[in-house]
Amino acid sequence: MIKVIASPNIAFIKYWGKKEFTQDQDRNIGLNPSLSMTLSRAQTTVTCRLSETDHFLVNKAPVKEKDLIKLSDHIQRIADFFQLPRKTLHIESSNNFPTGTGIASSASAYAALTLAISACLLGKERFIEVYENRLSDFINLARRGSGSAARSLEGPFVYWNDKKTQVLPYQWKLYDTVLIFSSTEKKVSSTDGHKYAPLSPLFPERLQKLELRTQKLIQALEKQNLHQLGPLLEEEADEMHNVMRSSTPPIEYQSAECRQFLSEIKKQAQRDFYYTLDAGPNVHIISEKPVVEILKKIMKDLDISAEIWEDEQGYGPSWEFTN
Ligand code: PMV
Repeated sequence: MIKVIASPNIAFIKYWGKKEFTQDQDRNIGLNPSLSMTLSRAQTTVTCRLSETDHFLVNKAPVKEKDLIKLSDHIQRIADFFQLPRKTLHIESSNNFPTGTGIASSASAYAALTLAISACLLGKERFIEVYENRLSDFINLARRGSGSAARSLEGPFVYWNDKKTQVLPYQWKLYDTVLIFSSTEKKVSSTDGHKYAPLSPLFPERLQKLELRTQKLIQALEKQNLHQLGPLLEEEADEMHNVMRSSTPPIEYQSAECRQFLSEIKKQAQRDFYYTLDAGPNVHIISEKPVVEILKKIMKDLDISAEIWEDEQGYGPSWEFTN
C-alpha cells in the first residue's frame, strides 16, 4: 500500500481559460502561464492498494457518480501512459480542510491520486525511479486530471507554462490565511468557467498584460518585497473576477460579505497583507507574518463572519510505502 500527502496551491497568476484540445495528452493547458504558491497545512491524504474490485472513498463516503467516472478515467490514463494493465484498486482520499470551499481541493487531490495510483500500478522500484528521474511524467498526468494539480507536485513557488513546470529558486516564508465566507459548492464549475473566459471582451487585453505582470511578480518574489508583490496579486485577482463577470454567460463568484470585506481593506492605505481569490467567494490573504487577529477585528467591525483557515507555503507531496 502507498500513502501520499499533497497540498493545494494558491495561484498568484491565474489559470483561467484553457486551450482547446483533441488528444487527452493536451488536456488542461492554460491559455497563459500561471504561477502559484504550494501550501502545507491543508492536505489531501490518499491511500491506494490493489484490490479485487474498484472501491473508492472520498472523505469516508462513496465517491459521487461524476467523480467516480473522472477517477476511473484517470486510472486508465495512468495505465495507458506507462503501458501497464489497468488494475482494480482500493483508494481512500480525505482532506483535513473544508472541501469545495475555494481551497483548491482538486489540485491536492489529483496530485496525490496521480502519485498513489502510479505507485500501485508501477510497483515501488519503478515508481521511485520515475519520481526521481522523470517527475514531469507525474506532473503531466496530474495536470490531465485537474489543471492546477500540475502546480501541486512541487513548491513553494511554481511556474506552469504549457506542459512544463518550473520551481522558482526563491525562499520566502509567506502565509495564506483563508477567509471562508461560504462553504456551498460553486454554481458554475471551473471546467465551465474556463470555457466561458475567452468569451469575455476583457480577455485579449488580459493576455497581453499578463507577461509583464508575471515578470514583475517574479521580481517581487526574488526581492522578497511584499509591497511590490501585494498590489500585483490584487490586480490579478480583480482582473480574473472582472473576466468572469463579463464572460458569456457572466459568472459572479463573490458574495456580498466577500465584497464588503474587500472594499474595506482596499480603503486601508497602509497594510502588510494583500488579497487574492480563486473561483469562489473566499478570500486568501497573503502576508509575511500571521494576521489572523487583524482580520478578525476587521470582520468584527463590519459585523460579518467567516471560517478561517491558516496556512503557509509548502514544498510539495510526501509519500511512504507501507505493507
Ligand atoms: O484546475 P482548475 O480547473 O480547478 O482551475 C483552477 C482555476 C483557479 O483556481 C481559479 C485559478 C488557478 O490558477 O488555480
